[in-house]
Amino acid sequence: MTWTSSPPGTPVTDAVLAAAADRTLPAYLYDLRHLADHLARIRAAFDGVDAQIELLHAVKANPDPALLTVIAEHVHGLEVASGGELAHVRAHLPGVPLAFGGPGKTDAELTAALAAGVDRYHVESRHELRRLDALARAAGQRVQVLLRVNLPTGFGGGAALTMGGMPSPFGMDPAEAAAAAADLAELPGIQVVGVHAHLASGLAPADCAALAEVVLSWAAQFGRRHHLALREVNVGGGMAVDYRRPDQIFDWAGYARRLAAIAAKHPSLTIRIEPGRAISAYSGWYATRVLDLKPSHGEWFAVCAGGTHHLRTPAAKGHDQPVVVVPAEQWDCPWPRPSVTAEPITFVGQLCTPKDVLARQVRLPGIAAGDLVVFAMCGAYGYNISHHDFLMHPAPTVVHLR
Ligand SMILES: Cc1ncc(COP(=O)(O)O)c(C=O)c1O
Repeated sequence: MTWTSSPPGTPVTDAVLAAAADRTLPAYLYDLRHLADHLARIRAAFDGVDAQIELLHAVKANPDPALLTVIAEHVHGLEVASGGELAHVRAHLPGVPLAFGGPGKTDAELTAALAAGVDRYHVESRHELRRLDALARAAGQRVQVLLRVNLPTGFGGGAALTMGGMPSPFGMDPAEAAAAAADLAELPGIQVVGVHAHLASGLAPADCAALAEVVLSWAAQFGRRHHLALREVNVGGGMAVDYRRPDQIFDWAGYARRLAAIAAKHPSLTIRIEPGRAISAYSGWYATRVLDLKPSHGEWFAVCAGGTHHLRTPAAKGHDQPVVVVPAEQWDCPWPRPSVTAEPITFVGQLCTPKDVLARQVRLPGIAAGDLVVFAMCGAYGYNISHHDFLMHPAPTVVHLR
């Protein structure tokens, strides 16, 4: 099959193109073997270093049960961030160890987590700690907790999304965490076993490791100061996925080596990481067709079936989704086919909003109405973070390649 892509190096497999050509579109296509191979490489990176590092996965990146089933075979556990994710994962993968995070947990969610036997609670505030204590004691439990902290890291390096080191609703400031530690004498239902921090997303390996070092050093000091026998530090996710350079995959082996060097300074602590997008982004594609192609005030627009109600990430994050275009041979209409060569194309969807843009000013040799358009790197934060109901278009087909 002949195809062109932008940027060069945009990943797509023959199996994905064949399946896309054959299915009702728009469709999400998930290549489960691709995902398993990717995860095997990640696991090999951590198995290759001498350090206690545990790999969790943030379910919010993509709750697709088939994906989670593959992922669960390669990780130590899953991080869920709502009662919905908790129930979903327990229904599909009953035995997988769970960490329960997320700001604003309700009593009903905490009660469900206690009933589900969640392994770790990532607690975000003193009030949440007290509520969890009361609910745990009522359920006859003593639960294992990581205090989520928002550290003033002074770290400015290139994060795509910053969630800490500045005012934010996530976690506790160091002073609040210290007060929470002091509260523990009155909270017999709580055993604090560690610290959690997810401070940024979109980090290169060196930045990711530097942030982990900040968190580990802080946690070790915090444990000493408050006489807490901490045994683990979860340094979060945030490993970069570069949508502008699809061939630049996060260097897991380099990251694992850096993390191992940091772990050696803290031998009593297990490091946990909980990546989301860097696990599944590369194994999903969103395929559609060009419905219409037209010039507008000097620019060309390819209007595709579907749009940001299926794939909101490029609009939300402001990037151009990497794209592959496969020319369609068939043209059944009796009038000339809309087509253009050597003009930058903006790919949009069917929504009545100028924000419904999937990729801007894409340079391709040519494009025509009816062509197959396959967006790559759609395996994370794709359909599940999109505003499905706007304009009430149908949901995409979901295809699993095995
Ligand atoms: C607490 C927590 N952990 C992990 C992640 C995963 O982040 P990423 O997908 O950037 O790896 C997130 C994302 O928001 C998060 O909030």
